[in-house]
Amino acid sequence: MVPLKRRKVVSTSSATDTDIKATKYPDTVIFILERKMGASRRTFLTRLGRNKGFQVAEQFSEAVTHVVAENNSGDEVQAWLETQTVGRTTSNTVHLLSISWYTESMATGKPESIQEKHKLKVSHTPTPVTPVVSAKSYACQRRTPLKHHNLFLTEPLELLAENAELGENEGRSVAFRRAAAILKTLPRAVKRMEDLQGLPCLGEHSLRVIKEILEYGSSQEVESTRHSEQFQAMKALTGIFGVGVKTADRWFREGLRCPADVTKSEQRLNSSQQAGLLHHEDLSQRVSRAEADAIGQIVERAVQEVLPGAQITLIGGFRRGKETGHDVDFLITHPEEGKEEGLMPKVVQWLEAQDLLLYQKTTMNSYLESKEGPARPAHNMDRFERCFSIFKLERSVLGEAHSSAQATEGEPGGGEGRAPGSEPLPQRRPAGWKAVRVDLVVSPFSQFGFALLGWTGSKLFERELRRWAGREKNMSLSSHALYDNSKSPAVPVSQDICWVTLSLPERPSHVKKRASGTTRENA
Ligand code: CTP
Ligand code: MN
Ligand code: MN
Repeated sequence: MVPLKRRKVVSTSSATDTDIKATKYPDTVIFILERKMGASRRTFLTRLGRNKGFQVAEQFSEAVTHVVAENNSGDEVQAWLETQTVGRTTSNTVHLLSISWYTESMATGKPESIQEKHKLKVSHTPTPVTPVVSAKSYACQRRTPLKHHNLFLTEPLELLAENAELGENEGRSVAFRRAAAILKTLPRAVKRMEDLQGLPCLGEHSLRVIKEILEYGSSQEVESTRHSEQFQAMKALTGIFGVGVKTADRWFREGLRCPADVTKSEQRLNSSQQAGLLHHEDLSQRVSRAEADAIGQIVERAVQEVLPGAQITLIGGFRRGKETGHDVDFLITHPEEGKEEGLMPKVVQWLEAQDLLLYQKTTMNSYLESKEGPARPAHNMDRFERCFSIFKLERSVLGEAHSSAQATEGEPGGGEGRAPGSEPLPQRRPAGWKAVRVDLVVSPFSQFGFALLGWTGSKLFERELRRWAGREKNMSLSSHALYDNSKSPAVPVSQDICWVTLSLPERPSHVKKRASGTTRENA
């Protein structure tokens, strides 16, 4: 039995405890350490325990009484425990136990009494430390500013996250993203490992990378990944609009390394990939806020032409205050429920008639509505009517300074838009327009609040919000609705958010306040 000198900072005791559903042994709350065990074995053991009526916590919290580890020494587990807790002495204790205690308890179906052989041996007694800073464990519970003090650590961690995504290792990628996100919340630059004491979300691998950067200025793993042929090629190939990880991987194995290789090769390309390659140069440039605003005006005009009274809202990164983005995202709705149906094809048709679209793929909505509200989310993908497109943005609409600085000589339709087979120009003349990726989403008014929340991002923020809802509140959140898992109909929501966000003039009198703005988290 080790006195638990450092307690994790938990906002409310109920917050992290609700994932503990079983009540058979209320005094025994087990936490299984994933370190050196692996996620799949931990999941298996967790499920096994829960099926037998044990309380096995997903997250470490104050409620945990038994920490179970495999292949870890007592000192390793103690060191891990110290990263989970901050300097506060309480009378609570936690048992650090070997997996043998857990398997024996599983066999008998009740928590076995702890014997000497079960205990992990800890050679040092923890000394209380003063917490440098504390933070809540879900990204959606914290402020994550766009500009922060730890870019020198978050950039390398996010590079490893990206590499894990390119290798389709989602778990690993999320772990690095969570680690980067927590560092963005810190009020100052990290100087020593001790500055991280007490912070959640920092796994062993991320801590190793951070330590190396603090000691040597860079991490060998990060730098070798950054310069590896595979990482660079996968990044370049997935950078083509319409190309996912699977296609990029196949091309990589066939020897292709960059968009030019794909153009030269005899690959069969679908229409989005063809458009992606054709406009690759423009699409690989960041989209500026001025460009986003100009696109916003076009979308507004299109929407008003085909459905007067419809409302558009800028979503995605620009709504979070980013200065540039890889695309521009808009949410469209109409205050009269049902009016929005079939809107997207009409908007697209109008844009095409004006020669403003270079590519578009519209998918119809597929949500199943019933009296009980939108269907429960089966997975993360939402089911709104949406359009992935490439806009043809005339540079002239961006105003004098911008257009004269970026393009003058090229006539509209010049540059990469020329017909195949025409003579290539000796050097690329800037076209009179720029290809810009635009995502449009249509939601019914009744779901607008959820759609706005779900499409503002960041991706990690959304993921954490859903995880928090599920694990801590026993609720299911999607871009359509919120469900209490213990009840049937969707949680009824006020429509105020819609009226306030859209500042509609005819909003009901009880809705007074203007939305406070667009400070969203940039986890
Ligand atoms: N989104 C989604 N389903 C998709 C794609 C996106 O729900 N298939 C939502 C996500 O919540 C995401 C948001 O739309 O956070 C915006 O996605 P995206 O444009 O990819 O990212 P941004 O955060 O806008 O970043 P960027 O500035 O690079 O565009
Ligand atoms: Mn975006
Ligand atoms: Mn997008």
